[in-house]
Amino acid sequence: MKIVVIGGSGNIGSKLVRRLGERGHDVIAASPKSGVDAVTGEGLDDVMPGTQVVVDVANSPSFDAAPALAFFENAGRNLLAAEARAGVQHHVALSVVGTDRLTASGYFRAKTRRRRS
Ligand SMILES: NC(=O)c1ccc[n+]([C@@H]2O[C@H](COP(=O)([O-])OP(=O)(O)OC[C@H]3O[C@@H](n4cnc5c(N)ncnc54)[C@H](OP(=O)(O)O)[C@@H]3O)[C@@H](O)[C@H]2O)c1
Repeated sequence: MKIVVIGGSGNIGSKLVRRLGERGHDVIAASPKSGVDAVTGEGLDDVMPGTQVVVDVANSPSFDAAPALAFFENAGRNLLAAEARAGVQHHVALSVVGTDRLTASGYFRAKTRRRRS
């Protein structure tokens, strides 16, 4: 399968990219370092064609409530729109266990919003 890993250069993403590659998948590690920005939308339409699965393991550069919310809302909206344009059928996003119960944290409220984007 062709699998695009958004945040593929990160802590979790780089391990995921390696493991999927070892299993023979065509894996694209997508992140600002490779010209793909989920927040601005830059590069998304270039990597999506032919993709069967998008895995979103990107993270907000800031853990403060307002910028984290802006990051996850914009990235989620742009990713789902680009996937719809390209006919991608499967979207997997990594959450954090207990996110729904950690409402005192702006970061975790933002993670919940991404799930709903
Ligand atoms: N680490 C944990 O223990 C843990 C546990 C549970 C869940 N999670 C979740 O897993 C996700 C990844 O965590 P992590 O620790 O692997 O993060 P990380 O190491 O900080 O990596 C962040 C990744 O996001 C990318 N990124 C940043 N801005 C982006 C943008 N505008 N568009 C696309 N990609 C962007 C970065 O790309 P560049 O390298 O190009 O900047 C990098 O690949 C997060 O959502 C986090 O909440 C993490």
